Amino acid sequence: MKILVVGSGGREHALAWKIAQSERIQMVYVAPGNGGTAQDGRLVNLPLTDPAALAEFARREHIALTVVGPETPLAAGIVNLFRDLGLKIFGPTKEAAQLESSKDFAKAFMERHGIPTARYASFSDSAAAHAYIDRHGAPIVVKADGLAAGKGVVVAMQAEEAHAAIDMMLSDNRLGDAGARVVIEQFLEGEEASFIVMVDGRNILPLATSQDHKRLGDHDQGPNTGGMGAYSPAPIVTPALHARVMREIIIPTVQGMAKDGIPFTGFLYAGLMIDRAGNAKTLEFNCRMGDPETQPIMARLKTDLLGVMEHAVAGTLDTVELEWDRRTALGVVMAAAGYPEAPRKGDLITGIPAETHECVTFHAGTVLADGKLMTAGGRVLCVVGLGDSVKMAQKQAYDALDQIHFDGAQFRQDIGWRAIKRPGA
Ligand code: AMP
Ligand code: GLY
Repeated sequence: MKILVVGSGGREHALAWKIAQSERIQMVYVAPGNGGTAQDGRLVNLPLTDPAALAEFARREHIALTVVGPETPLAAGIVNLFRDLGLKIFGPTKEAAQLESSKDFAKAFMERHGIPTARYASFSDSAAAHAYIDRHGAPIVVKADGLAAGKGVVVAMQAEEAHAAIDMMLSDNRLGDAGARVVIEQFLEGEEASFIVMVDGRNILPLATSQDHKRLGDHDQGPNTGGMGAYSPAPIVTPALHARVMREIIIPTVQGMAKDGIPFTGFLYAGLMIDRAGNAKTLEFNCRMGDPETQPIMARLKTDLLGVMEHAVAGTLDTVELEWDRRTALGVVMAAAGYPEAPRKGDLITGIPAETHECVTFHAGTVLADGKLMTAGGRVLCVVGLGDSVKMAQKQAYDALDQIHFDGAQFRQDIGWRAIKRPGA
């Protein structure tokens, strides 16, 4: 069986790596892939990104199933296109992907269906937005409505920052169309967790829990990034909280989408804020898996992912039970010099240790050129360690990371600190 994975990041490397473990796999194509997928003998890179070209390839090569990693092709309608051509693909349609591609859509949806989230208002007029901030004061959060590659959210601790964000998005148009409308919302306090499920339109299959680290520096200091590390499971998501999140957020979301006539298929990721009392609110929806959450989650998945994907596109996820490695998996991202503002490319990468039962390294911004592995993007690698405790997984990851070198590498020393700090960890 031939499978196509769309994307080039660590998330896609991890998905392709896992799918390729299935005995029924003949070939896993990754489009466009990266240096790591190029080096893996079971994977083949495909230099295509255009949805129409991918669909043509899938038709010609009799691809049994396509899995989409990133949000951009989903929001552009790659799933609609494949389905129109009778090709099997796992992901949300363009309409369903609005849960991520429009914050205004997501907030209105949550309000309509009683899903817990921060109070908000939505503006395209800057004077009205400034007045709202004057009325509510800081801390307050300003979000560009559209996809802005992680640059669209300003958590303003001072009112001036919120006003500046409005000027940047609505007046100076610095985020283009993505910032032509903004959502201003109540600041929420607490601890974040990533809650990711697979949805076939009706049935919901939760994946293992996870938590990521968004800030660039140790102790959660410095600028926001796509994520500098993640681990699974996330001990903050107790079985009781898991049940509540399913009941209060995930099930109403999947049922609400179906009721609104836009059934959701694909990975659904709810970014949660959990307060001290253990109440969870939805910060955002993503219509895809998280990166880097996917890397530790895939490292723990024991079930054949190809089989799960087949059930997902057939609408029979209710028959699937997932089996997980009981160990903790913890992934540390190594990023390029200059990340996140202006990542440097072209540094030589050496020393990546071979995969073992305790450690696997997934590539993101890497390229294989003339047999040499070079940096080619912001987040370069995600080194995943597995161990019987968070601490042991962390040690495995950092022991492996210590062997890897490229000039200017940036990584956090404290991935997993929240889980380690918890009583009983
Ligand atoms: P989002 O893309 O909406 O998840 O926002 C990115 C990050 O901004 C989140 O992971 C949070 O760290 C932070 N954030 C978003 N919304 C809020 C909020 N209402 N209150 C506090 N922090 C927030
Ligand atoms: N790690 C956060 C995200 O994928 O959006």
